[in-house]
Amino acid sequence: MCGIVGYIGRRHALPIILDGLKRLEYRGYDSSGVAIITDKGLSIKRKKGKINDLIHHIEHESINGTTGLGHTRWATHGKPSDENAHPHRAGDVVVVHNGIIENYTELRALLQEKGHHFKSETDTEIIAHLVEDHLKSGASFEDAVLASVRQLRGSFALGVLSVRNPDRLIAVREASPLVIGFGNNETIFASDMPAILPYTNRMLFMLDGTIAVITADEVRLMDFNGAALPVHPKQFDISPAMAEKGGYKHFMQKEIFEQPQAITDTLRDRLLFDTRDIDLKDAGIDHKLVHALKRINFVACGTSYHAGLTGKYIIEEMTGIPVDVEVASEFRYRTPLVSTDTLTVAISQSGETADTLAAIRLAKKNGSRVLSICNVIDSTLARESDHVLYTHAGPEISVASTKAFTSQLVSIYLLAIHIGRSLGRLSKQQAASFFDTLVAIPALLDTLLKQEDRIIAIAKQYAKHRDFLYLGRGISYPVALEGALKLKEISYIHAEGYPAGEIKHGPIALVNEDMPVVFVAVQGRVYEKIKNNMEEVKARDGRIISFTNADNAGIRDLSDELFVLPAIDELFTPILSIVPLQLLAYHIAVMNGTDVDQPKNLAKSVTVE
Ligand code: G6P
Repeated sequence: MCGIVGYIGRRHALPIILDGLKRLEYRGYDSSGVAIITDKGLSIKRKKGKINDLIHHIEHESINGTTGLGHTRWATHGKPSDENAHPHRAGDVVVVHNGIIENYTELRALLQEKGHHFKSETDTEIIAHLVEDHLKSGASFEDAVLASVRQLRGSFALGVLSVRNPDRLIAVREASPLVIGFGNNETIFASDMPAILPYTNRMLFMLDGTIAVITADEVRLMDFNGAALPVHPKQFDISPAMAEKGGYKHFMQKEIFEQPQAITDTLRDRLLFDTRDIDLKDAGIDHKLVHALKRINFVACGTSYHAGLTGKYIIEEMTGIPVDVEVASEFRYRTPLVSTDTLTVAISQSGETADTLAAIRLAKKNGSRVLSICNVIDSTLARESDHVLYTHAGPEISVASTKAFTSQLVSIYLLAIHIGRSLGRLSKQQAASFFDTLVAIPALLDTLLKQEDRIIAIAKQYAKHRDFLYLGRGISYPVALEGALKLKEISYIHAEGYPAGEIKHGPIALVNEDMPVVFVAVQGRVYEKIKNNMEEVKARDGRIISFTNADNAGIRDLSDELFVLPAIDELFTPILSIVPLQLLAYHIAVMNGTDVDQPKNLAKSVTVE
């Protein structure tokens, strides 16, 4: 989704804004632009394509000024082009925007009647014209922005500047994220922390329905009625290096290799080693809440949805509580049957996914309590939930989610063991044994990651195939879905995940020697069943790539390639079996030369529906 950076201070704004935009590249975008107030007047530069295209476009110009706005655009209204790229200008007013203005057609018609002319196909341009219109009627810059935002419907994070008020920038937040960083004689605001971290760790996440009037030394906050709000920045314990590649070729590869650490950090402080028990006090999941529960309801999108699907197997097994799992974009437009005895569990790396936010609002309205499993402290989801179980995966930059997924699984295990114990469904001994398994996972992952070369060898053989089938059964079924998603997201190769028991009802028609079939076949209750499915594929000349912890002659005979996973309790296998699938997708994508960290058409944080 779009990225916003605004800077006002004593230094040259342009390099800081461009650097900030680069640090937000992971959000996904198709054009970029900057506006700087220079001593010669306003300079606006916009370019379709990557930020480097913009830099190339302006490299011979001197654009000096200490106040400015920058933007990366992910097209919603109007195709990606130089003209549709932000910033948009009307007279003295410049606007950058993340989100969608739902009533833009009406507002555009209204402004056209008043004689305004538009140069782009975007919904954003109307905002600049609205502010200009109010300025022309004599309003101050602040009042003009206030009056304009009250006319807007939809989701919008805005950066606004007025050439006649060069000592200030205005930031607005309504349903799209914005963070303000408080530096030394400088203030920087952005869609996400990485753009701010090189300058300061003192930050404030703006709330919905608020406006910030920002100078180099001061930030004033108000609501949409103009009433003043308190300003309380917090110190965030994150270093800029955590959002850098650190010697890896791509963020995705770095993040895959960070999984043992991310899992350790997510487990930390929640494991009581003396009693081998789980402590979820930080999320406020107490005995009373657990005993009132009749149903758990996961809502999420993308990879986080797959964590929820896996969670169904884990929670039902460990707690006996029925679990539903639904993609948030479907849930939000149904009449969901949730009530006071339902716990809605929203899973989201970013905590800003628009559909997931809408889903929890609906669940709350229907009386459900909401627990979020979320990676971003103070994100909208975290703030709007009754309980938050934070994953501590650190910033995830690559669009394709990896370490967030396994950290989400860890949180689900913690939750399931905790509830299972509270309800007496798990004996002390069973819970202690699960506790030991959780503790062992980071080391097992380290061993697994050391076998990257084996995955590279498999990737080399299959990188040129255009269709893949991923099959799993039982708890490995969501792993197959997630493995297929990883491959299609970053390599643009068609990959379909399916429950292996269903192939005879359709996908088997596709199987031939050109169709690699990835099997996730772990020992446990459906192991013999999935071996039968392998036989069915083999009988049709399919090429089988097996990921298994059952290293025996039978499975070796059936497999063209075999990757052996460490042995672990069946319920915990997903956290290991997904990792080689992430690596397989990563290396196939690298071999195909795609833009691994920022795949085309995709965005990291989907803040519009
Ligand atoms: C986008 C990202 C995915 C992510 C999904 C949900 O599609 O590209 O990687 O899984 O959004 O995001 P969330 O932040 O809610 O987990």
